[in-house]
Amino acid sequence: MQILVLGGAGYIGGHTSVVLTERGHQVVIADNFSNSSRAAVARLEQVVGAPLPLHELDVRDSVGLERVFSQYRFDAVMHFAALKAVGESCKKPLDYFDNNISGTITVLRAMSEANVRRLVFSSSATVYGDPEQVPVREDAPLQASNPYGRTKLVMEQLIGDLCTADPNFRAAVLRYFNPVGAHPSGLIGEDPNGPPNNLMPFMCQVAVGRRERLQVFGDDYPTVDGTGVRDYLHVMDLARAHVDALDYLCNKDRSVTVNLGTGSGVSVLQMVKAFERAAGKAIPYDIVARRLGDSATVFADPGLAHALLGWKAEHDLDAMCRDAWRWQALNPQGYGSIIQPD
Ligand code: NAD
Ligand code: UFG
Repeated sequence: MQILVLGGAGYIGGHTSVVLTERGHQVVIADNFSNSSRAAVARLEQVVGAPLPLHELDVRDSVGLERVFSQYRFDAVMHFAALKAVGESCKKPLDYFDNNISGTITVLRAMSEANVRRLVFSSSATVYGDPEQVPVREDAPLQASNPYGRTKLVMEQLIGDLCTADPNFRAAVLRYFNPVGAHPSGLIGEDPNGPPNNLMPFMCQVAVGRRERLQVFGDDYPTVDGTGVRDYLHVMDLARAHVDALDYLCNKDRSVTVNLGTGSGVSVLQMVKAFERAAGKAIPYDIVARRLGDSATVFADPGLAHALLGWKAEHDLDAMCRDAWRWQALNPQGYGSIIQPD
């Protein structure tokens, strides 16, 4: 199939483009490079061993989108293009509403006009807010704890309304828990702008010498060692889930909303230990105050994704840390690094 990957130069869209290509699909990437670079796409091409058609495009640009849709005959769209920093969303909510919500409306309209009626959408465990119960099931109450989370909630609702209104429209809404790791080649990975907000990229930058110490946000949570517990998931498992979801949309001809996680909770200090094993070096850290808005424990019940898509996470924590570290060690400055040829 021919798939339009919006936000395909980014972390998860890039890894998914690789798996799509490996599974025989033709990928067309569109991205405005607000949080990525052309260098990332060049690396993707190195991984897949073929050129990938690329369009520099903002998903809010309806004319540009229409132009891209008119050049190809897409079977489906995968929509990764969003702003994703929780803290920034609290400071600049309008930017998030505009980029994420207006962007999604523009994408949905362009799809309708081009008669493309299969969508795989990046949602997030953030739609559960601070969950009352773990493991979290898809029928748990939904709530937004911040403007970023609100955009995900609203986008899910918009997509749901479109599925109701258009009997031929099918969507897979994928609620990711905590994606980490990188492609095993070490050629592509997560390359945040500025200081990383998330645990894994922060540890990677400490290990590679870009940052001095990790701050562990709170050790007084009601968890195994007092630190926050999350469901970390290898990005290659996550990428595979997108292609499985696409198969589901096309073969079963039904829409679906599923959690994507391993189903296991891991504390910050357990994660630090696993990373130290993988990197073969100590990660110096300080325990500091809790981060505003953090939950104690969030992990998925991934049973529905297994039942419906036949998907299950396969990589363990050691593989997540090993692959994240390989990427960072080979690319200390992310995509700005120069890789020595073999
Ligand atoms: P990312 O920032 O690496 O990738 C997003 C890509 O979309 C970037 O290349 C960016 O340049 C592009 N983009 C953003 N706004 C755009 C616009 N208006 N027009 C065109 N391109 C645009 O982020 P990611 O981690 O790969 O996340 C992908 C999706 O998954 C996002 O929707 C994010 O909200 C969601 N998600 C991510 C996580 C996570 O922890 N990484 C967790 C849950 C959900
Ligand atoms: N943490 C630290 N130090 C850091 C970074 C994180 O101790 O420097 C801790 C956090 O307090 C938390 C755990 O590590 O306990 C994981 O934090 P992340 O920031 O890596 O991940 P979150 O679960 O907080 O956030 C993720 C996504 C968000 C999404 C949220 C809810 O990054 O986009 O899940 O689903 F909104």
